[in-house]
Amino acid sequence: MIIQPRTRGFICLTAHPEGTAAHIKQQIDYVKSKGKIANGPKKVLVIGASTGFGIASRITAAFGSDAATIGVFFEKPASEGKLGTAGWYNSAAFENEAHAAGLYAKSINGDAFSDEIKKQTIELIKKDLGQVDLVVYSLASPRRTHPKTGVQYASVLKPIDQPFTDKTVDFHTGVVSDITINPVENQEDIDNTVAVMGGEDWKFWIEDLKAAGVLADGVKTVAYSYIGPELTYPIYRNGTIGRAKDDLEATVPALNELLSDIDGVSYVSVNKALVTQSSSAIPVVPLYISLLYKVMKEKGIHEGTIEQMQRLFAERLYTGSAPALDEKGRIRVDDLEMRDDVQQAVAELWKQTTTENLENISDIKGYRDDFFNLFGFNFDQIDYEKDTNEVVPVPSIE
Ligand code: NAD
Ligand code: NA
Repeated sequence: MIIQPRTRGFICLTAHPEGTAAHIKQQIDYVKSKGKIANGPKKVLVIGASTGFGIASRITAAFGSDAATIGVFFEKPASEGKLGTAGWYNSAAFENEAHAAGLYAKSINGDAFSDEIKKQTIELIKKDLGQVDLVVYSLASPRRTHPKTGVQYASVLKPIDQPFTDKTVDFHTGVVSDITINPVENQEDIDNTVAVMGGEDWKFWIEDLKAAGVLADGVKTVAYSYIGPELTYPIYRNGTIGRAKDDLEATVPALNELLSDIDGVSYVSVNKALVTQSSSAIPVVPLYISLLYKVMKEKGIHEGTIEQMQRLFAERLYTGSAPALDEKGRIRVDDLEMRDDVQQAVAELWKQTTTENLENISDIKGYRDDFFNLFGFNFDQIDYEKDTNEVVPVPSIE
């Protein structure tokens, strides 16, 4: 099949198996170039393991400290004449590389919010690894079916008190325009978003894993959050998604309590704004990211998901001593993004940005490259005119 990018809105409907494999290889090479992470994790469960920060965490664990990994994700498999999703191809490529390096790697494809997938994961850990010493929680989803009640929740991306108007960009066309997003109509919008992206499912996972005896003494668990600049507060941190992040962060003390008798510890890491399938769906954020990339690249401090996760593991989670936490008890790897000089430069550019000057003022090109890279496109070494096999089975899918 000849596979080219096909987009609808902020979604890319196609993914290139060889291109995604090149993307995975690039990330593996980066982690290897940084050397081994002393005392890193050995047996790792990654929930949300197929794209974005999750696959970067899995790669860092495997190739940074030779960890055995189990990855849980929700992706569409490839079949004859039908493309799989990028996360499917990512996982196939990851497993191939891991196995070639002599590392254990298996994957579970299904709804991580369900009791069924939790049970299946626990059985696989018992059978193959006994216990895990790190659980990474990196789910991002627009909906969740509650495992106890069957209620289906859909998250929304809305401000809470008043309408929010600011600039946004269509990153395909480069058109900058004003967008107004109306606030939530009722408490339900907030509650639904918290039910999907808050901390309850992370807690359910850790409770079930602990009750099954598959968490090792000294286990660590980490979930990911975001804060960002004041200009995105109305739509992000002070909006519905921010309430979900507040809830996720507030889960940490309860998990620490739960894990205390096995000397376990839980963390939320606040990560940098980056192009992923999830973040491209948030209005205003892609323009912010384009300007942020411009400023951080100029200052020589830009990082992608793999650089962020390698730094999280090597300089925060596995240094041999407890990581520094902010006043709210969070790990920060968004420190470079939030630097005053960076934020001031972005705010200055933000005021000036128009459709006409976008290509000069921002790194919209870098944004687009990163976006298409997520789906295996825009890699120089791949010939996109060439026929390629769409069927790439994950070698050890459960
Ligand atoms: P992503 O969309 O790239 O990854 C989401 C992952 O969740 C995928 O592996 C997907 O398969 C999996 N998933 C979704 N629904 C599932 C389900 N029902 N069952 C099993 N797996 C499911 O997103 P991302 O940007 O890497 O986000 C991961 C976390 O990082 C989120 O908590 C997000 O808020 C946070 N974060 C993102 C950014 C950013 O800028 N992208 C910044 C800071 C923090
Ligand atoms: Na992820």
